[in-house]
Amino acid sequence: MTANVPALEDLPSLAGRRVLLRADFNVPLADGRITDDLRIRAALPTIQWLQGQGAEVVACTHLGRPKGKPDPRYSVEPVRERLGELAPGVELLENLRFDPGEEANDPAFVERLIDGFDVYVNDAFGASHRAHASIVGPPQFLPSAAGRLLAKEVDVLLGLRERPKRPFVAVLGGSKVSDKLAVIDALLEVADELLIGGGMCFTFLAAQGNPIGDSLFEPDQVDACRALLDAGRPLVLPSDLTALGPGGELFHPEAGGEVRQVGTGVPAGWKGVDVGPGTAADFGDRIAEARTVFWNGPMGVFEDPRFAAGTQAVAQAVADAAAFTVVGGGDSAAALAQFGLDDEVDHVSTGGGASLELLEQGDLPGLEALRKAPNAHDDDGPTGADNG
Ligand code: 3PG
Ligand code: MG
Repeated sequence: MTANVPALEDLPSLAGRRVLLRADFNVPLADGRITDDLRIRAALPTIQWLQGQGAEVVACTHLGRPKGKPDPRYSVEPVRERLGELAPGVELLENLRFDPGEEANDPAFVERLIDGFDVYVNDAFGASHRAHASIVGPPQFLPSAAGRLLAKEVDVLLGLRERPKRPFVAVLGGSKVSDKLAVIDALLEVADELLIGGGMCFTFLAAQGNPIGDSLFEPDQVDACRALLDAGRPLVLPSDLTALGPGGELFHPEAGGEVRQVGTGVPAGWKGVDVGPGTAADFGDRIAEARTVFWNGPMGVFEDPRFAAGTQAVAQAVADAAAFTVVGGGDSAAALAQFGLDDEVDHVSTGGGASLELLEQGDLPGLEALRKAPNAHDDDGPTGADNG
C-alpha cells in the first residue's frame, strides 16, 4: 500500500495466537448510550479476518478525555456491550486513558499493555495522529500490521493528496482558523479550489476589511489569513451570511433575536452563524463541477435548525456530486447522518484530526511506528515502488 506499512497478510501465522487490536472506539455518547456506532462497525472487517485466521482478539481503545485516572463517565462498558453484539468473542480492555502512561507514551505502560500478546494490529485510524503508548509502543516489540480500516483510510486520503482527479475542490468549515491553518496551506498545494465556511470564515472576512459584528473571530490569525488572501491562493469565501440579531441565543429560538440574511458585512451586535443562500448555491455549483471533493467541517451551527441550511446544502451537493467524494471529521459525518446522506458519499472517514494531519503531513506517528515493526519488510526497491 501507499504508506508502505505491513498489512494483515504480513503477519506470522495467527492460529491460536493472541492479538492486541488497537481500535478507535471513541464513539459519541449521550446519557451513557452510543449515538453513532460507525467506529465500532468500521473495525469489523479486521476483527472478522483475524478471527477467521484462528486468532484470539483482545481490543483496546481510549474513550473521551479522562485525565489519566479511572472515571466512570468514560468507562468503555457501552462499547463493550455493542462490540459483544457485533463481534462475539472479542474482549475489550478498559479505557486506555485511565492510565497516565497512555498519553505520556510511558515504556512501562507499553510493557504492561503487550504482556501476553503475540501480535499487534492497529486499526485505530482516528487516533493514529497521537504518539500515545498504545499507538507507537507495541510495534517496537511485536509483529504488527495495519488493519483493514487503517489501510483503507490511508489509501483514500493519501490518494487525495497524491493523485486527485481534477478539478479537486476542498471545502473546510469549523470554528477555528488556528486549528486549520496548516491544513489550509497543505490543501492549497493540491486542491484547485478551497471553499471556506463555518466560524473560521469570519477571520478571513475581517482580514478583507469586512465588519463581522460579534461573529467568531481570532484576532491573532488576521495576518496569516491576509497573507493567504494576498498571495492570490484559490480561496473562496462566503459572499453572503445568515446572522442572528441582538438578544438571540443559539439553540433557543424562544429567546428572540431576529434572523436575517446579510452580505459579507455583519452589523454591530449581530453574529454570523451560517453561510447565506447565495454562498450555499455558489459552493454547490463548484462542488457539482469537481471530480474530487474533500469536505471537513460544518458551514454553520447546523445543530440549531435555524442555521443548518448552509451545511445541509453542502452535504446535499457532496452527496449529489459525480465526483469521488470524501468527508472527514466527526461533525461533518454527524451532519451527513442528520440529513440522511451518509450512504451517498464515497468515503466517510472515521478520523477528524487524523484525516487532516494525514492530508497535511502525508504521514502519521501510527504509520511510522508500523513501518519499524520487526516484521515490516524493507523492500521499497531501488525505485521506491509501492508493492505492498
Ligand atoms: C477523535 O475522536 O478525534 C479520536 O478518537 C482522537 O481523540 P482525541 O482527540 O481525544 O485524541
Ligand atoms: Mg459521488
